[in-house]
Amino acid sequence: MNIKESIESVRKLFRTDSDPFPIDYQAVETLRIKYLGRKGLVAGLFSRMNDVSDKERPIAGKLLNEIKQEISSVFNSQTGSSKSREKSHGESDYSLPGLTFPVGHVHPLQQTMDDIKSIFMNIGFSVAYGPEIDDDFHNFGALNFPPEHPARDMQDTFFIDSETVLRTHTSNVQIHLMEEKDPPLRYIIPGRVYRNEAISFKSYCLFHQVEGLYVDKNVSFADQKGILEYFVKRMFGANTKMRFRPSYFPFTEPSAEVDIWSEKRSQWLEILGCGMVDPEVFKSVDIDTDIWHGFAFGMGIERICMLKYGIDDIRLLYQGDMRFLEQF
Ligand code: PHE
Repeated sequence: MNIKESIESVRKLFRTDSDPFPIDYQAVETLRIKYLGRKGLVAGLFSRMNDVSDKERPIAGKLLNEIKQEISSVFNSQTGSSKSREKSHGESDYSLPGLTFPVGHVHPLQQTMDDIKSIFMNIGFSVAYGPEIDDDFHNFGALNFPPEHPARDMQDTFFIDSETVLRTHTSNVQIHLMEEKDPPLRYIIPGRVYRNEAISFKSYCLFHQVEGLYVDKNVSFADQKGILEYFVKRMFGANTKMRFRPSYFPFTEPSAEVDIWSEKRSQWLEILGCGMVDPEVFKSVDIDTDIWHGFAFGMGIERICMLKYGIDDIRLLYQGDMRFLEQF
């Protein structure tokens, strides 16, 4: 392309790029840099002057100055140049558009967590937190994982030393709460948990759970079912199909897992584990099992978040990629 053609093509490109002219401050700057920046398209045209023949140079120079003028004047008229301010004798021009600043987004995991919290807080649960580094007793022993029993292998554990672990679930906080407070108890416990798992599209070495603990007189599995059904319908919509499937956890008896039906994938997907608090657990925290009964549940936040927003790779939640995050 000769220089004249190149100038013409930059002009055309600018006309498309600047119509409509961006309102957002950041976008205006990006546009300015693209054309008028030190390494911008206009500077690029100027740098080609050396290759232009003596005969053509005066015309090319004139055209170049014109396009630079033309582009600058669009910026000036669109953004209120210093000249237009001078014209108004230093007074503010209230007709100028305001500057818009980029706004941050709440991370999808935090959004999911906030939704879950508000659903349970609406029905009388309080929020509690507990330690992420804990002893074997709170993470395993008091939850009726027998020592050296293969049940501990259910969760691949990061050990700090032989007695101390990065918690593998938020269930450790069930124990802290029951040690510290007298029933009745009605809590949800959000937090991070850690497992030594191979990282892939579906598992990560750290993730989030929300634990629930409900202890009172006359609590039955039917109460638990009612509350979890209410939760699922609020979280995923009133028509969501769900099922309770018998399962096993050392700290609940009977135990179940809840699946919801995914129309998109035509399959059941597990979202939480739950069950009636095992009497052995109550014994380890000195709660009288003749008076008190309870249920507990634990759900994976990444799972729920991915289902809700149709995300198919868990690692996206941890990479901080703006192209992903800006969609929420
Ligand atoms: N702690 C269990 C897990 O991480 C979930 C659970 C919590 C199950 C409470 C039952 C009751 O898989």
